[in-house]
Amino acid sequence: MQAGPIGIFDSGYGGLTVFRSVAALLPQYDYLYLGDNARAPYGNRSFETVHEYTLECMEWFFKMGCPLVIVACNTASAKALRTIQQQDLPRIAPQKRVLGVIRPTAEVIGMYTKTNEVGVLGTKGTVNSGSYEIEINKFFPQVKVHQLACPMWVPLVEYGEYNTPGAEYFVQKYLDELLTRASGIDTILLACTHYPLLMDMIRKHLPEGVSVVAQGDIVAHSLADYLQRHHEIETLLGRDGHMSFYTTDDVKDFDNHATSFFGRKITSAHLHLV
Ligand code: DGL
Repeated sequence: MQAGPIGIFDSGYGGLTVFRSVAALLPQYDYLYLGDNARAPYGNRSFETVHEYTLECMEWFFKMGCPLVIVACNTASAKALRTIQQQDLPRIAPQKRVLGVIRPTAEVIGMYTKTNEVGVLGTKGTVNSGSYEIEINKFFPQVKVHQLACPMWVPLVEYGEYNTPGAEYFVQKYLDELLTRASGIDTILLACTHYPLLMDMIRKHLPEGVSVVAQGDIVAHSLADYLQRHHEIETLLGRDGHMSFYTTDDVKDFDNHATSFFGRKITSAHLHLV
């Protein structure tokens, strides 16, 4: 069998913040990134729609020869991953693997808190799914999870407005709301792959003693660990350090925006799915 790249999927740009950490830690592998920008954001869409879109993208990754795909989008991980892993994969591609970002994050987030109170900020879809609370409590039953949806943050980031007074207003608004509701929180998890672009602004508005955690490095280390434990998948991966990028929307727009998420220049290709 020919070696294939690791697939990295997001509804748009956000997954690039995870890919950035993965590529830094595991530069030896080949990667294929897909942002479904034409249908983003996924955050407010129904379970059925997010499942349908995510599955369609997974089928494309498999056609492109990926033995393993990381769903680097919390919304898609929350709404579609379980169905894909349990119902779709056994039917359409039993030898392929699809991993998400919620479980690896839930496995470690309890180690960051001393007060045992964690704030989880995500899209409406991620928060309403309750996935973080369920998963975190499997590993850390003593941790109280306080969730809040921040619907304005993805559009601010998508439109490049993350350093503006408008962003500052909405960063402060959601942080105040969360910390007023639960003043014992000492750790805030950014459970949306877009939010790391607001990191500086978020840090500026956090009270002393409250820290903020992004997922990129957590997911990267978890992937490294997975590949060490799953030799049968690791041996199927290409190892030329090659990366390619696809978007379902305009490539020029993607390339312009993607640099701030990925930290270096990207040249993408168009994928027609819709
Ligand atoms: N990046 C996605 C996530 O991590 C959110 C963007 C969207 O709503 O599509 O949840």
